[in-house]
Amino acid sequence: KPAVRLALLGCGTVGSEVVRLLHEQSEDLTARIGAPLELVGIAVRRPGRQRDSDIDPALFTTDALGLVKRDDVDVVIEVVGGIEPARSWLTESLKAGKSVVTANKALLAEDGATLHDAAAEGGADLYYEAAVAGAIPLLRPLRESLHGDRVTRVTGIVNGTTNFILSSMDATGAGFGEALDEATELGYAEADPTADVEGFDAAAKAAILASLAFHTRVTAADVFREGMTGVTAADMASAKEMGCTIKLLCIAQRGEDSAGTDSVSVRVHPAMIPRSHPLAGVGDAFNAVFVEAEAAGQLMFYGRGAGGTPTASAVLGDIVAAARNRLSGTRAPSESSYAHLPIRPIGES
Ligand code: HSE
Repeated sequence: KPAVRLALLGCGTVGSEVVRLLHEQSEDLTARIGAPLELVGIAVRRPGRQRDSDIDPALFTTDALGLVKRDDVDVVIEVVGGIEPARSWLTESLKAGKSVVTANKALLAEDGATLHDAAAEGGADLYYEAAVAGAIPLLRPLRESLHGDRVTRVTGIVNGTTNFILSSMDATGAGFGEALDEATELGYAEADPTADVEGFDAAAKAAILASLAFHTRVTAADVFREGMTGVTAADMASAKEMGCTIKLLCIAQRGEDSAGTDSVSVRVHPAMIPRSHPLAGVGDAFNAVFVEAEAAGQLMFYGRGAGGTPTASAVLGDIVAAARNRLSGTRAPSESSYAHLPIRPIGES
């Protein structure tokens, strides 16, 4: 069979791992898909930057839009992040019928509707397993396996940086500042940790999870958000005395308002949880998501939520799905028909 041709947008921590894995597992992937994958171009801002020497320099271009517009590209993979220009590149790709694989949680959480609509217009598929909780297979179960069930609540630790900080405060009695310094030294926290510690990163992920779990459209702006910078060593000590720990949780819940109308509430805030809860033992920079569904009962998804290689694993899974579906003419599940369920303010049961 002819090759499935890939264009990669971005070649940072995740992108370079995607290239490495595509290269390293090329034979297995060809066997699994039934056709080879061919990387035809990599769009980057600075082609001269020092990168993995195994990458053919002829693949690099600064013209991302030109690359996605190429007729011979079947699948566009975006690991750049941010709203623009990623949104323009991806809507262009989807409208032209190309499959898109993206890890862009900010874009999906702020304006996923534009991407879903473009996919519907172009008869194209959008895959984004890597956008939430890195390597953990989580979106596909919500999107597919649980579609016959009714999810009632999703409770998750979806930010590794803050989980590292809170786990270390719990283990050592350190204050927030000290634990943040340790996280920065060990490379868990970014130079500017605002998006993590103030809960913006978790809120974006919560919006994506809530949309899929409840077949609705939730944006980051709909999510009640409180960061974890106010959690003190004394708070953690009191929690421990009560047999609890403190985690930054995202909680998305289905419910009914007083008139019986179906609605959802989505929030991110530090919460005290009993040590017996499955999420209490999630330490280090791990992520975990606890899903409750009417028929399935309780499910727990656990693993590495960040990092180049784990995130690239999720991207690769989506590339394989996209390639297979293109070859067989199968469509991936679509969110284009999702309508808004009312967002219930926090505090209203
Ligand atoms: N900063 C994020 C985290 C990276 O700490 O989980 C993954 O989105």
